[in-house]
Amino acid sequence: MKNKILTIAHTKGGVGKSTILVQVVIFLLSRGFNVRVADCDPNKVTTFISKRRLKNQKLKSFDSTVITSVAALEAFCASGFDGITVVDTAGVDCALTRRAIELSSLTVTPIAPSTTEFIGFATYKNVVKQLNINPNQIKMIINQSHPRCNIYKDYSLFKKQLDCPFDFLKTNVIRVSDFDNSLSSGLGVVEVDSKSKASNRIQSVVNELIELLEV
Ligand SMILES: Nc1ncnc2c1ncn2[C@@H]1O[C@H](COP(=O)(O)OP(=O)(O)OP(=O)(O)O)[C@@H](O)[C@H]1O
Ligand SMILES: [Mg+2]
Repeated sequence: MKNKILTIAHTKGGVGKSTILVQVVIFLLSRGFNVRVADCDPNKVTTFISKRRLKNQKLKSFDSTVITSVAALEAFCASGFDGITVVDTAGVDCALTRRAIELSSLTVTPIAPSTTEFIGFATYKNVVKQLNINPNQIKMIINQSHPRCNIYKDYSLFKKQLDCPFDFLKTNVIRVSDFDNSLSSGLGVVEVDSKSKASNRIQSVVNELIELLEV
């Protein structure tokens, strides 16, 4: 497998990029994939989790490299890596986020069915329009879906109102505390309970990503 680059991006903060990324990375590891992370998130969430896992000999870990410049990201992505490079990004419009999207064969963009995210998406759409990429390279993912979610219970209506030029993954990520609870011990949901609803969603997301990345 040659180096495949998967970016998790949005120009809005707090949409669940790092949460989904870490859960996906840990599940990819459990499936035997060679995975490394380019951590362009200034909060360095993934690097923190990676270090925590490296200290625990019972856990499979992964390398997470903090990246702070476009040149460093380009060099990192160009280095011969036989596996999947997953890029976490800052939740703002910046040169690093833009370049990460351009360098990726696939970018996943989480969005919660909420009013603030509905508003924030307009900026992201505008930024992506300015990039030299095929819109098929971007897949949206509904995060924090919840049965009691107010106006956007009907996600097809939400998608229509977004006027979104990108496809959505089939899987929605549900809003549950399992994601945060597992990460607080450096674990993925799949390592805590491989049969939980949260694990099922992550497994299903990963299956979709594997197919899209052709790995
Ligand atoms: N599916 C979910 N269920 C419950 N809580 C979630 C879910 N997804 C994200 N969260 C919570 O939302 C908050 C923001 O998540 P996270 O830090 O992953 O977002 P982010 O997009 O990476 O933010 P930033 O742009 O600041 O890097 C965290 O408290 C996280 O635990
Ligand atoms: Mg983050």
